[in-house]
Amino acid sequence: MEIQQHVSLKPYNTFGIEAEASHFVSVKTVAEIKKVLQLKEYPQKMILGGGSNILLKKDVEALVVHNNLKGISTEKETDDHIWLKAAAGEKWHAFVMYCVDHDYGGIENLSLIPGNVGTAPMQNIGAYGVEIKDTLTQCTAIHIKTGKEHIFTNAECEFGYRDSIFKNAEKGNYIIVSATFKLTKRDHKLHTDYGAISEELAKNNIKNPDLKDISDAVIQIRQSKLPDPKIIGNSGSFFKNPIVERSVFEKIQKEKPQIPFYEVSENQVKIPAGWLIEQAGFKGKRFGQAGVHDRQALVLVNHGQATGKEIWEVALKIQQAVKEQFGIALDVEVNVLG
Ligand code: EPU
Repeated sequence: MEIQQHVSLKPYNTFGIEAEASHFVSVKTVAEIKKVLQLKEYPQKMILGGGSNILLKKDVEALVVHNNLKGISTEKETDDHIWLKAAAGEKWHAFVMYCVDHDYGGIENLSLIPGNVGTAPMQNIGAYGVEIKDTLTQCTAIHIKTGKEHIFTNAECEFGYRDSIFKNAEKGNYIIVSATFKLTKRDHKLHTDYGAISEELAKNNIKNPDLKDISDAVIQIRQSKLPDPKIIGNSGSFFKNPIVERSVFEKIQKEKPQIPFYEVSENQVKIPAGWLIEQAGFKGKRFGQAGVHDRQALVLVNHGQATGKEIWEVALKIQQAVKEQFGIALDVEVNVLG
């Protein structure tokens, strides 16, 4: 374990933004994390996982602790279920592939989501009708100030739509070191109800899909819409899909009957932010090195040399335009630093 100075964070954020950490350390064990957290000479610490949900607006004057804990182990097993514990530094998609390959069901719809296991619970990652909260039983975390370990049960994580206790009451207080998932070994409950998945399966003539078929379908859908961060920097959906009062939705629907929506409750409707942004004319637009993806307007992109500030300016323009046109405030989903 070596503390380095002036380290470029470009390889550590999927937006591919150039920003420098004044100090940087990569930790591989819980013992190392505890040791690092005790270092008094670095009062400011920033925990970094897969870097797939952050926008760095400036250099980081802190000790950046790169969570690089690895390992997948079986906690418990019955004829029907397996409880798998994955270390925080495991790549999320690699963990999903491990489960699909072993025929463990529950997270196949979450294939190809960038980022690491340890940061996935923070925003309750979700896609195609499934969220991490559906299978996560608990996660182990260390308190950054006290160094004490705490096990958060699923209920204690206070999961919501792209939300958890780690983004609210306990924001910045914990470093997650592992997460445990209860997965099915047989009689898998497949989630194919999300339109695009059933279309993809039908296209491939698959009538009785297995976990691998679902995972492949999700991978194909994602690859057709979402840019690969290795090729073009991005952080997935930049905003959350807004949940609005039914009256607000109906007013828009009157003018634009083609508006897509999801029912939330009797009084509330969720509108895809991507649709609102496209209607506001931003899809595929470029502002210097920063821009909006041409196949999914909810994804902001770095065309190569964008700064975090430039990406942020595009985000503000979008928020303003959507507010003016539809009266809807878009909440940022990505963690904006600086
Ligand atoms: N749409 C447009 N124009 C666009 C983008 C979308 O009209 O530019 C419309 C689509 O035609 C569709 C609807 O909006 O009718 C929804 O689009 P999509 O299925 O692509 O999903 P989304 O609501 O934009 C959410 C998640 C994604 C997740 C997908 C699939 C959020 C913030 N985003 O996107 O998650 O993969 O559903 O479940 O909830 C992420 O969080 O980073 C992420 C990629």
